[in-house]
Amino acid sequence: MAPFKWDDIRVEPLNSDHNFSEFFCASEDLNDFIKNDARREQECMLSRTYLFSYEKDIVGFVSLSADSVLAPLLKKEDWVRKEGSSKSRYSNLPCILIGRLAVVEKYERQGIGTNILYWAVGLITNVVCKSVGCRYITVDPKKDALDLYLKSGLGFTQMEAIKAQKPETRYYINIYKLLNN
Ligand SMILES: CC(C)(COP(=O)(O)OP(=O)(O)OC[C@H]1O[C@@H](n2cnc3c(N)ncnc32)[C@H](O)[C@@H]1OP(=O)(O)O)[C@@H](O)C(=O)NCCC(=O)NCCS
Repeated sequence: MAPFKWDDIRVEPLNSDHNFSEFFCASEDLNDFIKNDARREQECMLSRTYLFSYEKDIVGFVSLSADSVLAPLLKKEDWVRKEGSSKSRYSNLPCILIGRLAVVEKYERQGIGTNILYWAVGLITNVVCKSVGCRYITVDPKKDALDLYLKSGLGFTQMEAIKAQKPETRYYINIYKLLNN
């Protein structure tokens, strides 16, 4: 495999012409999603998928959806409060869910996943947040992929556990903090 630079990677929205017969990432679940479910989800307007290609290969993808997050799942410092109040002003807050993110096995551990994550966060902050109210980014990482998010430097924080003895597996970014700190 020739060395590549991130600048050589093309990004395009998923359409009906893309072929995933050669797409194999480390997760069967995500292989099944991109081969069998991503187009249907996009047609139903449940998620939008973006593909990243190098030369003739599709090397990765990310799928995004609008969502909302319950205030008690967020750290208190990330709530929106009325001045002088200790309570959250809203019970639900708007977010974008990074539903799926994958890189094909033969291109792993070269920074592509991290760059896809930065690209998605850039799209959310530069496009979504400038046209629609959206304060958080959420993700439910697979155990093996957690470091991708934690090492990104984007401030991913573990959600608060609501049920006792059941730690939350989901993480979030407070976009307001990210853009204003
Ligand atoms: C997880 C995944 C997207 C990472 O893609 P990638 O291009 O290899 O990621 P990067 O090269 O940017 O890795 C960044 C950091 O994430 C962590 N990381 C990535 N893959 C990892 C793995 N399989 N196990 C442990 N840590 C991993 C490492 O800390 C890595 O930094 P390092 O290489 O300096 O140690 C890719 O392995 C994949 O598609 N896996 C299967 C699907 C999946 O789990 N997707 C995540 C869903 S939430």
